[in-house]
Amino acid sequence: MTVNLDEALNSFDELWSPRIVARINDYDVRVTKVRGEYVWHKHDTTDELFLLLDGELDIALREEAGERVVRMRKGDVFVIPKGVVHRPSSEPGASIVVIEPEGNPTTGDGTTGIPDHLTTTTGQSYQG
Ligand code: NI
Repeated sequence: MTVNLDEALNSFDELWSPRIVARINDYDVRVTKVRGEYVWHKHDTTDELFLLLDGELDIALREEAGERVVRMRKGDVFVIPKGVVHRPSSEPGASIVVIEPEGNPTTGDGTTGIPDHLTTTTGQSYQG
C-alpha cells in the first residue's frame, strides 16, 4: 500500500503534530506542519533527519563553536546530530518530513520550559 504525502498533510491542520506515514525497521517517517518557533531541545541518543517539502525552515543549532542557523530550502535534507541542541522555526510555515527512531519525543530529552501551545508527542499514526 502506498501513502501519499500530500493527502496525509491535507488530513490535518495542527501545527508541530507529526503523522507517522511509514515505518522502516525501527524508524518512523513522519510528516509535520510547522509555523513559528519550536522549543530548544536535543535528542541524546539519536540523529534526526529533516526534509523540507514546502515553505521555509530555519534550524538553529547550538554547537561547540557557537550558535548558527541552517536555512533550508524546499527539497533540502539536513541531519541534526545526536546531542546537538536545536530549535526549528518557520515564519511563513512549512511542511516537513522527519525521520527518527520510533518513540522519539518531538521535544527531545530533559527539555524544560515547554510553552503551553506546544505539546510533546511521538506522532500519531496515519492510515491513508
Ligand atoms: Ni529535534
